[in-house]
Amino acid sequence: MIETSRLHLIRFDRVRLARGGHRLFDGLDLTVSERRVGLIGDNGSGKSSLLRLINGLILPDSGDVWVGARDTRRHRKELPGEIGFVFQNPDHQIIFPTVGEEVAFGFANRGLKGRAAEAEAARFLAAHGCASWEGRAVHELSGGERQRVAIISVLAASPSLLLLDEPFASLDLPMRMAFRRLIAELPLQVVMASHDLELLADCDRIIWLDRGRVVAEGPPGRILPAYREAATLRVLAS
Ligand SMILES: Nc1ncnc2c1ncn2[C@@H]1O[C@H](COP(=O)(O)OP(=O)(O)O)[C@@H](O)[C@H]1O
Ligand SMILES: [Mg+2]
Repeated sequence: MIETSRLHLIRFDRVRLARGGHRLFDGLDLTVSERRVGLIGDNGSGKSSLLRLINGLILPDSGDVWVGARDTRRHRKELPGEIGFVFQNPDHQIIFPTVGEEVAFGFANRGLKGRAAEAEAARFLAAHGCASWEGRAVHELSGGERQRVAIISVLAASPSLLLLDEPFASLDLPMRMAFRRLIAELPLQVVMASHDLELLADCDRIIWLDRGRVVAEGPPGRILPAYREAATLRVLAS
């Protein structure tokens, strides 16, 4: 097991947030400090909103979100350097036409210039099993390959906290298995929303959201079967 460098204490303090004209979070209190945290819940339960509150992509209407000693309102600009965010759709994330440029951008954000950033990008791609991908056009990659590039470029910026918003939803089984292994080996804190209950079984803690409320939380061995059972009962009742 690779040692995790640093775990952030993420704290939601009486967070209220309206989305699309209705109140989603109505005084959410939640503290997260585990190495691997999984978010589950039906579509619309608030998983993406919760992740976006953590990195300051959205701010609460009232209440505060803290990541360590920083609250997302006052330290919003500093958070992207510390927190990596991988979207469900890599096309919402990747900016550059080639893989090399995209990954080099992560290094440029850390202060490396031109050739040095390119060289680091090539080295980093090789270390992640994508040797000689630098010159490949992003639009010619498969969805799974683009997702891989999206994750590698986020990691290139050296975050200490990684937020994953259902990044595997559209991937085939071998690709998901590869990502599962990659995530397991990452030496940093990860909070991920997913419907892949196998992937979530690796987490230290699962948080189950329903309409903006935490309905249950605890170890995957307890929460995942309860979630599955609740879904089954609802299907049977419908
Ligand atoms: N950009 C947005 N504009 C308006 N409403 C939104 C937006 N994003 C999310 N919502 C609403 O907020 C609620 C929670 O959505 P979301 O956080 O995306 O949940 P999940 O990720 O669990 O599917 C839903 O009712 C959704 O319709
Ligand atoms: Mg979502």
